[in-house]
Amino acid sequence: MQMQEIISKKRHGEKLLDEEIAFFIKEYVKGTIPDYQASSFCMAVCCNGMDAHETAVLTDCMMHSGDVVDLSKIPGVKVDKHSTGGVGDKTSLVLGPLVASAGVKLAKMSGRGLGFTGGTLDKMESIPGMRIDLTQEEFFKQVSTIGMAIIGQTGNLVPADKKLYALRDVTGTVDSIPLIASSIMSKKLASGSDSILLDVKFGSGAFMKTMEDARLLAKAMVKIGNSLKRNTKAILTDMSQPLGLAVGNILEVKEAIATLKGNGPKDFVELCLSAGSIMLVQANVCRTKEEARKILEKNLNSGLAYKKFLEFVEAQGGDISYIEHPEKFDVSKNIVEVKAEKEGYCHEITAIQIGLAAMHLGAGRATKEDSIDYTAGIVLNKKVGDKVLKGETLATIYTNKNIFDEEIRMVKEAFILQKEQPEFLPIVRDIIEE
Ligand code: URA
Repeated sequence: MQMQEIISKKRHGEKLLDEEIAFFIKEYVKGTIPDYQASSFCMAVCCNGMDAHETAVLTDCMMHSGDVVDLSKIPGVKVDKHSTGGVGDKTSLVLGPLVASAGVKLAKMSGRGLGFTGGTLDKMESIPGMRIDLTQEEFFKQVSTIGMAIIGQTGNLVPADKKLYALRDVTGTVDSIPLIASSIMSKKLASGSDSILLDVKFGSGAFMKTMEDARLLAKAMVKIGNSLKRNTKAILTDMSQPLGLAVGNILEVKEAIATLKGNGPKDFVELCLSAGSIMLVQANVCRTKEEARKILEKNLNSGLAYKKFLEFVEAQGGDISYIEHPEKFDVSKNIVEVKAEKEGYCHEITAIQIGLAAMHLGAGRATKEDSIDYTAGIVLNKKVGDKVLKGETLATIYTNKNIFDEEIRMVKEAFILQKEQPEFLPIVRDIIEE
């Protein structure tokens, strides 16, 4: 088989054979297909797409390019959740213990933050002692006994994606639904869970900027998952403002603790309850989402989900005295309130601006090698729909940097104020079931 013929076929918009896709992935991982041919192939896919069958085959080949985790030793249905990434997204820290408190098994592999989006692993590591590098044996044991574990990607998981994603990043070929869908789903499928809930975000602070594009991506991923025999569903969620109030590692952990104690911001609580209800049905713990939601509300209000969070932190070596007394966490040396210069109703809080400002304040990484200041970040004092008076605090900045005038300007400009009150739109805009 000749790689140039496969590229040429796709460049002319033709459908590829299963064995042609398999050849590309196998030989590219082996190193016999050079980067210039792989990048040409990705460009042809960007221009001419792939149908559902080709995308599923590509995903399957990528998934089998390395280790595939076998979770069958853990009894029960194992559920995973994946977010396409956003600003202030601390969902796994609350959703994990919430669904585990209702009997769902969550065996999750997570990532680090890069650019304007945060990562669950960094948030976990801001809790003193917390380990993200459990051995497979420890991981299995923890999921079996307490119902959940969150760790970094282990072993040789989807090497095809590691190579391809790095290549796409520098060849202008990230932006393609079949390539994004296969990249995300190959990693999720290789992680071994029986069912997957995808949180596909849209808006300025998300990978997909519009709801239409988010829907296309969600549908492509749900199709892949179901065609490869995993129960896969997706929710489309709004990222036109940061999720909840806190952006930044320790600040988000504190918000997660408050939420598990029943004091969470409305949009964040709603997202956790909606996503959790779907996961309980996927795991066959409940028959309907309504029944599931009642259980989750009860577990949140009774402290059962909070108790599960304590068990999870302790099991992974974290010092639970920080969870029980969040005032023990370090605090940035500079805490500055950003004030409104005019009055109005808040229509949007441009999430990408807040995410980038938080990154510059020290909360995130511009490159993979950067280190993080766990205390840094931004806490919103206003959300979309709120009335703002001139001179009121819009947000509070936390940083150990000495000069941050630019970040103050970015935060101020992120708040889009207008005269009329905006229409209320729920955070979860749709559920994609097939
Ligand atoms: N996230 C991924 O894991 N892969 C992509 O291609 C895009 C976003």
